Amino acid sequence: MCTKSMKRNTHCFCRQIVIYLKEMTMKIFKRIMKLTVRNCLCSCIFIIFFLIFISFWKSESIGVYKQNAHIPVIVWWTNGFPSVNQIRTCSDNIDCEIIADKKINGNAVDAYLFYGSVINLEDLPLPRRPYDVIWGLFHEESPRNVEELMHEEMLNLFNFSATFSRHSDVPFPLQYMDSINDITSKEHYVDTSTKNNYLKEIGPIMYLQTDCETSTERDKYVKELMKFIQVDSYGACLNNKVIPQKFKHDYLNNLNDPEFLDFTARYKFVIAIENGVCDDYITEKFWRAIKVGTVPIYFGSPTIRDWLPNNKSAILIKDFPTPKAMSEYLQLLLKNDKLYEEYLEHKIKGTITNKRLHKELRARPYQNDALKTAETLECLVCKKLHEKNKRDKNIVTKYHYNCPQPISALTLGVNPHNSWLFSWRSAKLKVQEIYKKLG
Ligand SMILES: *[C@@H]1O[C@H](CO)[C@@H](O)[C@H](O)[C@H]1NC(C)=O
Ligand SMILES: *[C@@H]1O[C@H](CO)[C@@H](O)[C@H](O)[C@H]1NC(C)=O
Repeated sequence: MCTKSMKRNTHCFCRQIVIYLKEMTMKIFKRIMKLTVRNCLCSCIFIIFFLIFISFWKSESIGVYKQNAHIPVIVWWTNGFPSVNQIRTCSDNIDCEIIADKKINGNAVDAYLFYGSVINLEDLPLPRRPYDVIWGLFHEESPRNVEELMHEEMLNLFNFSATFSRHSDVPFPLQYMDSINDITSKEHYVDTSTKNNYLKEIGPIMYLQTDCETSTERDKYVKELMKFIQVDSYGACLNNKVIPQKFKHDYLNNLNDPEFLDFTARYKFVIAIENGVCDDYITEKFWRAIKVGTVPIYFGSPTIRDWLPNNKSAILIKDFPTPKAMSEYLQLLLKNDKLYEEYLEHKIKGTITNKRLHKELRARPYQNDALKTAETLECLVCKKLHEKNKRDKNIVTKYHYNCPQPISALTLGVNPHNSWLFSWRSAKLKVQEIYKKLG
């Protein structure tokens, strides 16, 4: 060490400086170390928080999102369709959480949606919190499987609807019309003189059904018509003709096969009787006939005239008092090509004079896509949920799904002996049972 006597010793002085410098360096080094550790901790915490935030933001798992963003929850109560959990972002950037799992706690649910075809009336989310839980109904079929829906009290349980009725909240009266070009396309069309030649091999009218017991008494009508004019029946109902081998296998799933369409197109007329009578319920039976260029003999939607491509694009069963009267008119058309061709203006002139048809498709392009239609309903309900404080009361009525008591194509009235009338009555009682459980 440096003693007082050594003070003037340069050597000692130097050592002092060296020691001083050493100490300073250590101090600075320590400071830097301290700072780095603190900074490191800070950045680590920041990175961890950032990762957590990202994972929350990206997470679409049930509940996590809701806790963070408080977006409304919509549950598809019926299984099978459309069955994915997801965040639905609708126009104006509003979000709703769509859940396809009914095990979720009912208190967290803002709306239930039901797919009518598979609705189980014994298993509804009851009792129901009044007013604030919205119910939505998506149904594209006739009430064949859920006759309760023929009763207005049943419809009244729902607040919003997506059905074929033009008065629905998400209407799709043209669900079975694939494209407007199909109407005028001549892809399968057979001209009248060729059809006349085919009459040597086949009858003038084709019938193809496998569901023989319908509320519209389809078979009863055709059976009566067959007494007066030849009807070729290929399906299980009233079968009198063998379906060609190549279509035999699973023809129900191949009705839109181009070869089968050509097969159908040779006929002058095709019988198209729906399995239920509901306003705007028009199925592929009708549209397929229009597409291939044969004339549909139609019974079903009382509003069918509103959707014909031209004034005379179908022969309506309800315009003729009996099958006999119908057969006489058909015979007249078979003798007079000019008269017959008035029913095929969409093919022969390539015209569609019905403005409603064009307008409807332009206004609602989702119609023939069930998933898009379901999404449209989800978004409608989502919007209503976001308007929670200023929303009006909405209740589905028979205008959204107007299927009255079963009407017979044969008698054009309610047949008191029709077994469907019996089930119509028991369905009414079932609806009353549901009302008791509402709470
Ligand atoms: C179609 O029918 C309507 C009303 O019945 C009529 O006003 C119109 O002129 C008809 N159009 C054609 C092209 O026959
Ligand atoms: C939804 O429908 C139910 C049953 O008809 C009704 O009691 C309730 O007020 C409706 N809620 C809204 C918001 O329209």
